[in-house]
Amino acid sequence: MSRKFCVGGNWKMNGDQKSIAEIAKTLSSAALDPNTEVVIGCPAIYLMYARNLLPCELGLAGQNAYKVAKGAFTGEISPAMLKDIGADWVILGHSERRAVFGESDALIAEKAEHALAEGLKVIACIGETLEEREAGKTNEVVARQMCAYAQKIKDWKNVVVAYEPVWAIGTGKTATPDQAQEVHAFLRQWLSDNISKEVSASLRIQYGGSVTAANAKELAKKPDIDGFLVGGASLKPEFVDIINARQ
Ligand code: G3H
Repeated sequence: MSRKFCVGGNWKMNGDQKSIAEIAKTLSSAALDPNTEVVIGCPAIYLMYARNLLPCELGLAGQNAYKVAKGAFTGEISPAMLKDIGADWVILGHSERRAVFGESDALIAEKAEHALAEGLKVIACIGETLEEREAGKTNEVVARQMCAYAQKIKDWKNVVVAYEPVWAIGTGKTATPDQAQEVHAFLRQWLSDNISKEVSASLRIQYGGSVTAANAKELAKKPDIDGFLVGGASLKPEFVDIINARQ
């Protein structure tokens, strides 16, 4: 089954009106591969601003959303709010949410369940720390994280999984194409064994962790890598080359 390549740019807590206008200008004037789906993960406060400037064929993602629609949850935003201002995606379970903000597998899965029920598409992040990798626990960790999602997600058609080894995020230390492919292949098998063969064949699995224009083409050649979730390089003009990595 062919899976449409999907590249997300996760701006994290970066950018201001001026720099977002510049990125939007770069993306608007570039020839982007029409066979690649692009999603921009923008800080919540700039989502509407970015929506007005970015090409309309690009998806727009919140970088987090809470597990209920509204209420007394100071500082949080809901999937309903994201939809209301024109976002169609949300990134959930990023390792920074897990490590810095203490989000558990269970909470992230509840957030995913609610976001999907509200009609958002979800980039569901997973990935092992360096300590876990060195202890030979990579497969165990990503399987545990997938299991938590699977407890709450019944329909996977609006889900993209982002495999992001924590040791490769923002470090300049990318997983080699073989290292990434090995985990993606394990995830494909896990999906086949635990969800269904159909979901295993159709679910897109992105790689994230120090993806740049220089390494994207080689990573993109691997059969189970269906796109990228890009941090630092998504703020730079080279993001265009990452989007076009399959060309
Ligand atoms: O969400 C994106 C990842 O955290 C990767 O970030 O490309 O800056 O390593 P990075």
